[in-house]
Amino acid sequence: MAKKFRWGITGTGFIARSFASSLKLLPNAELYAVSSRNAETAKKFANEFGAKKHYNSRDKMLEDEALDIVYIATPNHCHAPDSIAALNAGKAVLCEKPFALSSAELESVIAVAKSKNLFLMEALWTAFLPSFKKFIELANNGSIGEPTLLNADFGFYSQFNPNSRLYDPKQGGGSIYDIGIYPLFAALSLFGEPEILQTIKIPSLTGTDVTALIQSQHKNGKVAMLASSFAVDLDTEAKLYGTKGKLTLHKSFHIPTKLTLQNEKGTFDFEFPEPGKGYQYEAAAAMAAMEEGLTECPEWNLEQSRALMRMIDSCLK
Ligand SMILES: NC(=O)c1ccc[n+]([C@@H]2O[C@H](COP(=O)([O-])OP(=O)(O)OC[C@H]3O[C@@H](n4cnc5c(N)ncnc54)[C@H](OP(=O)(O)O)[C@@H]3O)[C@@H](O)[C@H]2O)c1
Repeated sequence: MAKKFRWGITGTGFIARSFASSLKLLPNAELYAVSSRNAETAKKFANEFGAKKHYNSRDKMLEDEALDIVYIATPNHCHAPDSIAALNAGKAVLCEKPFALSSAELESVIAVAKSKNLFLMEALWTAFLPSFKKFIELANNGSIGEPTLLNADFGFYSQFNPNSRLYDPKQGGGSIYDIGIYPLFAALSLFGEPEILQTIKIPSLTGTDVTALIQSQHKNGKVAMLASSFAVDLDTEAKLYGTKGKLTLHKSFHIPTKLTLQNEKGTFDFEFPEPGKGYQYEAAAAMAAMEEGLTECPEWNLEQSRALMRMIDSCLK
């Protein structure tokens, strides 16, 4: 019988709530514990999602011997320190995106995981969605001829607020870290790491990028035009043009429920009604990898996370 993994979540915000409800869909997962900076918040979260334990500090939760894996759901600047603390306490880690604020920071996390021989994974959930997997399959099986140009963006208007995690540089704010990561991920998944990457960034009043326009050139003449923005609502679609057709991942392309294939045979829609919020796929993949005794997830491994981080570094430099 499959092992039941006991999960802990650090942070109790938007994504922690979405992930906690997704975990309920997995019979081999138990939401065991939650930590918050505030005891009352932790207790409320635990009651709402049925966690056995609640802690008013990350480190107290990490001392709990029954905990198997920690999902890091804190703001961007906490990801590396939280991951390192969890690994040092002997826990496996699934960490929200972006994995860290730089490649150097990411290497410090990976070094601890390697030294402890513990499972570590970036929660790049889109990689695990059936709709995104179908997109990659159709891109690679000749349905649109040779896939050549990707046009992908992610943008929504967010009122400027210097204290919000989206704008505060101390919290790792900026559209590239938060949402630009998805178009970059799509380009990486289709074409591999770019040979050339150029970025135009518009700074917000705090200096974080509010809008970014990115173009990348990859092996064999593949190219991508990407954008992210907190200044305007963008289509948030991914369009892949091939020599014999086009694939469209409709809004919101990082959690698509509809994919359209257009080629010489006609137009074909694929619908993906989503059970739950969609975070169960990454959690299931993490547990399957751990069940096999692996320390990385084969479907989204540390080398892929490193490549994505290098692309982010390059955009931000
Ligand atoms: N995969 C996705 O679809 C997706 C979607 C949205 C966000 N995210 C990622 O998830 C992370 C959290 O985003 P969110 O939208 O959930 O943010 P959020 O709603 O602000 O929640 C973050 C939580 O982290 C804790 N926290 C806040 N500031 C902290 C600090 N300085 N130190 C330690 N803990 C702190 C808070 O919980 P307590 O008050 O209980 O401590 C807070 O509720 C971000 O890295 C973001 O990129 C991913």
